[in-house]
Amino acid sequence: MSPQDQLKLAAARKALDYVVDGSIIGVGTGSTVNFFIAELAKQKHRIQAAVSSSTRSSELLREHGIEVLDLNDVEGYPIYVDGADEINFQRHMIKGGGAALTREKIVAAQAEKFICIVDASKVKKTLGAFALPVEVIPMARNQVARELTKMGGTPNHRVGVVTDNGNDILDVAGLTITDAVAIEQAINQITGVVCNGLFAVKPATIAIIASPDGLQLLGGT
Ligand code: 5RP
Repeated sequence: MSPQDQLKLAAARKALDYVVDGSIIGVGTGSTVNFFIAELAKQKHRIQAAVSSSTRSSELLREHGIEVLDLNDVEGYPIYVDGADEINFQRHMIKGGGAALTREKIVAAQAEKFICIVDASKVKKTLGAFALPVEVIPMARNQVARELTKMGGTPNHRVGVVTDNGNDILDVAGLTITDAVAIEQAINQITGVVCNGLFAVKPATIAIIASPDGLQLLGGT
């Protein structure tokens, strides 16, 4: 296992401390979450079932024998566990490197706590070195791209990627994200945008950051 994967696994294992026995758990998407799913599977008797943010995670959960519920049949759960592409010290995140941002934001919205699991390379003082993913309705792609350019970004169509919702992704480079809440809200106002990958209006409750020196926690208990 690579040193970075060892850190992802360490963060994923620590997230098990926040699992509430007998509850439903929200599960994100990505390589760090894949480690979490494998660790959760070893303790699957502790949980009632899962809700998931992507087809990929649902498949993986089911392969591990964990039931995946339709989100429409569920009303609230204690925690949502997911990775991030970048996170700052306010626990604002950029997500969507795996194109699952919209379902991630939906599943996170019903959770009391968002537990973010990352290796230390994801921690940034200012967000934006990672191009911000924006999910768009396909017919509005160029229209939205022009609006994002006016905001100072350089949008690039992620060619060949279609989201679980049948939409396109624009990756927006060059944005100066000093006020992540304002930018998240402003991009959501562009007609044709489904969702953007800034998670700042509802930041992570707790970030578990794994580095070669050990684990660091940011945020509440
Ligand atoms: C997927 C995501 C992921 O959480 C993000 O890309 C981090 O992934 P990884 O754990 O593979 O680094 O937002 O849409």
